[in-house]
Amino acid sequence: MKADELFQAARAAMSKAYAPYSRFPVGAALATDSGAVHAGCNIENASYPEGWCAETTALGHMVMAGGGRIAEIAVVAEKMDRIMPCGGCRQRLSEFVADDALLHLCDARGVVETVSFSAMFPRSFDLEQNR
Ligand code: THU
Repeated sequence: MKADELFQAARAAMSKAYAPYSRFPVGAALATDSGAVHAGCNIENASYPEGWCAETTALGHMVMAGGGRIAEIAVVAEKMDRIMPCGGCRQRLSEFVADDALLHLCDARGVVETVSFSAMFPRSFDLEQNR
């Protein structure tokens, strides 16, 4: 999977964000090890803390499409130069990431930095072992 293709999927998802309260649209796209791409946007509601993140929407799509291991993740927010997944989403993503999963940090024009997921979420809570 080309990182730019994943960025484009995340950016397209961002255009669907429902973020009237924060006015902070976010898009995320996940590529599984089989090459499938699942994307999502953040979805808010009037009870502010009950909204959820773009990464979480994308994960829901991935699981409903049959699941898989995540090989690459792209996240984009038009109002931020290099958005990082929030802590809660890092925990959710960590459930499904491959050991060598990559995280592409994007601005509105493309990937600006690629990091390993494990470096961004070391020693996560894991019922079976520490990473
Ligand atoms: N948000 C995401 O969608 N992903 C993140 O990783 C961080 C934050 C959303 C949640 C909320 O709708 C808006 O950005 C502002 O926090």
